[in-house]
This record gives sequence, structure tokens and C-alpha cells, in this order.
Amino acid sequence: MKDDLIRSAKEVLTPALSIHADILVKSARGIYVEDGTGRRYIDFTSGLATTNVGHNHPLVMEAIKRQADALIHSGCIFYHEPLVVLPVMLREVTPQGIDMFFFSNSGAEAVEGALKLARFYSRRQGIVAFTSCFHGRTFGAMTLTTSSIRYRREYQPFVPSVYHSPYPYCYRCFFGQKPDACGMDCFEYLERLFRHLVHPEEVACIVMEPVLGEGGYVVPPVEFLKRLRSLCDRWGILFVLDEVQSGMGRTARWFASEHFEVVPDIMTMAKGIASGMPLSAVGAKSEIMMRWSPGAHGTTFGGNPISCAAAIATLKIIEEEGLLENARQVGCYAQERLNGMKERFPCIGDVRGLGLMIGIEFVQNDGTPFKELLKKVLDCCLEKGLILIECGVDKNVIRLAPPLIVSREEMEKGLDILEEAVRVVCG
Ligand SMILES: Cc1ncc(COP(=O)(O)O)c(C=O)c1O
Repeated sequence: MKDDLIRSAKEVLTPALSIHADILVKSARGIYVEDGTGRRYIDFTSGLATTNVGHNHPLVMEAIKRQADALIHSGCIFYHEPLVVLPVMLREVTPQGIDMFFFSNSGAEAVEGALKLARFYSRRQGIVAFTSCFHGRTFGAMTLTTSSIRYRREYQPFVPSVYHSPYPYCYRCFFGQKPDACGMDCFEYLERLFRHLVHPEEVACIVMEPVLGEGGYVVPPVEFLKRLRSLCDRWGILFVLDEVQSGMGRTARWFASEHFEVVPDIMTMAKGIASGMPLSAVGAKSEIMMRWSPGAHGTTFGGNPISCAAAIATLKIIEEEGLLENARQVGCYAQERLNGMKERFPCIGDVRGLGLMIGIEFVQNDGTPFKELLKKVLDCCLEKGLILIECGVDKNVIRLAPPLIVSREEMEKGLDILEEAVRVVCG
């Protein structure tokens, strides 16, 4: 029955929508999802780093139901209560100085908004992004996206005046340097770009994921972001951080930028902001946002009352349930255990991350990426009741992104399954 339904879905749903697991989920709660036969799976993907407070948190469900009874749409024709409350709450948790917001529906839409705001404010055209980053699938966001050629192939021409520089991915340094003898050649490359390809005074913004998501869960050196901030200040370039995946407590801080002690001029957030309801936001310093004149940007559904109500509940839960501290503690435990596994299994080349945004990179004996092996590990985990997904330019990295409510015992249970799968597949 379930197989029939999935088969018929494949006849009517575009194959472009690549659904990871052939399971038909009927209900979900916390870290678990359940199919129609009563089989329960641990979801350590959080529905793509989105259900940060767990699936169907009772307080989020209550807020959604209450708002649905009262008002479900405004179309930006009038104000509504959640739209008034949410930005005030967001201002409390975003980096100091980010104090005005524009709401939209998806991560890509927020990135488009950020790019438009940067060009509008600066009256400059150039945009600098980093190779391996993912920013979404609309034209502007896709032009910046380089985490895989499959997201770009056949879609030329792209948005003009976009330049790319290598992301500081120290485990696979583009310049072949070792972390203990790093000359920050990646930063020098960026400076060279300004000498050869585009003058910095023509650059509107530099856009970066503070922790690489889709591109492999990579944590860049603190120094790199600090230098980037100074470079932006020197040339009047807007520093845009895309926190769509790394935000909302995922890295054990409200936003990953806090780990690097840098404040962006503009930032994007989505995914975990409303626990699965469609909502995203562009946040910016008010001096920048205030110049975006009425009608210069807009939306019909952005800031939808139900999504905003879900976001208000989500923010309260993260705060009141101490989920940042939980993410820190359980994330530390997970990295410790995974590093132990790395010692025992040579196919695990690197373990890295912040909070509950952890990457586990699989390699062959010569250190090259081992995509096929990873696929087998993921299939084996699914069979044993654990949902995990991959990331990385070579699709050889497990992205461990469980809900922030995960307890140490639940993490242990999930990692037991993962370890068993690695043992079965890697021997
Ligand atoms: C960093 C980042 N930016 C933007 C996006 C695009 O978000 P959406 O799929 O909601 O458009 C994603 C999605 O994975 C992301 O990880």
C-alpha cells in the first residue's frame, strides 16, 4: 500500500524534487517521525535543519491553531499582532545592531531580498560570494550558489557582476596549506580579486555562510571572518551573512556569527525560525533598512500571521527550554564520540562543527572523498530507523543536524545506529 502510494507519487511529482527517503510519514513529534505502519524513525535531519524545537512542538501547534482561528492572511494590507510582536523579539536575539526586518517565505527569497537591499543601499553592482556555498535556487541566490554544479547546469546566463572566491575549507584547503601553517591564502585571493577583476568601490556586498551548510558543514577560521569584516569596513562594502541554515540556535548560539565575534550589516534567516511554517527574514542595521523606500521590495505572503505566530512560539521555546545550552552540551558529547569513531574507522576523515551542526566526512584510503560508501552508510541507517542526509561538494559528508531538544540519551541511541552502520559498511 505504502509502496503503491510512493510509486504513484513518483508519476506525478517532478523528479527534480529529489526526496531523500522512500518513507511515507503520517505523524511526527520531537525527534521522531512515524509512518503509517507504526514504524518510528529518529530524524537527525530536523527536516533540513528546520524543526529546531522538534517536530510538532505542542506550544508551536497551539500557537498555529490559535492564530488559524483568528486570522490567516493580511497580504500586507494591514498590520496584525504577530507581525508587530515578532520583529521586536527578533531584535533581542539577532547580533547587536541588526534591528529592522523584512519577512518573506523561504531562504532563497530572503537572500534575494538581501542582494536587492545591498544594491539599493550602496548603489553599487558587484557581489562577491564564496565557492561551495549554497544560497538557494532562485536566480540571484543560484548565481551565488556553487556547492554543486548540478544547481547551476543549464541555467545560464546568471545574474551579472557576481564574483567568487574560495571558501576557507581547511580540511581540503584550496591552496594545499595545512591548518598549522596557514598563510590565509584564501583571504589573499579575495584581495587579488579586487586588484584584477572588480574594484572594491564597485562592490555592493560580500555574502557568506558563516558555517558552510549544503557545501559540507565546514567551520571557517575566526580570523577569516574578522579580516572580512575589516575589509568591508575599509571599502564601504556591506557584509552579508546567510544564516538560513546556521541560525536559530543550530550552532548553540542564536546565530553562528557570534562564534566569530563579527556583526554583519545584513543577515538572512529562515529554516528554524518558524519550526516548519514557511517564513524567512532579512535583518539589517536600521540605517541601511531605512533607505529601502516603500515599494522598493514587497511580498503577498511574507510575514504570514500563522508563520509569525509559529516563530514567536519557537523563539520562546528556544529561550525557555534552554536549547542553546542543550545544543552545546549534546553537540560536545556527539563530537567527542564521533572523534572516537574517527580513530577506529579510517573511512572517517574529519569530524567538525559547532553545536548541533556537525559534519562527518568520509574518505578513501588516500584521503579522497568516498561518496559511494557514505550512500551505503545512510541507507543502512535508514533501514535501522535513523534518518540522516549528506552534504558536501562531493556528497561525502554526513550532516548531523538533530533538533536542539535532543537529549544525550537520544543522541547516544542515534549514534549507536550510525556506529553500527559504519561497522557493517566499512568493516
Ligand atoms: C544557507 C542557505 N541559504 C539559503 C537556502 C535556501 O533556502 P530555501 O530552500 O528555504 O529557499 C538554504 C537552504 O538549504 C541554505 O542552507
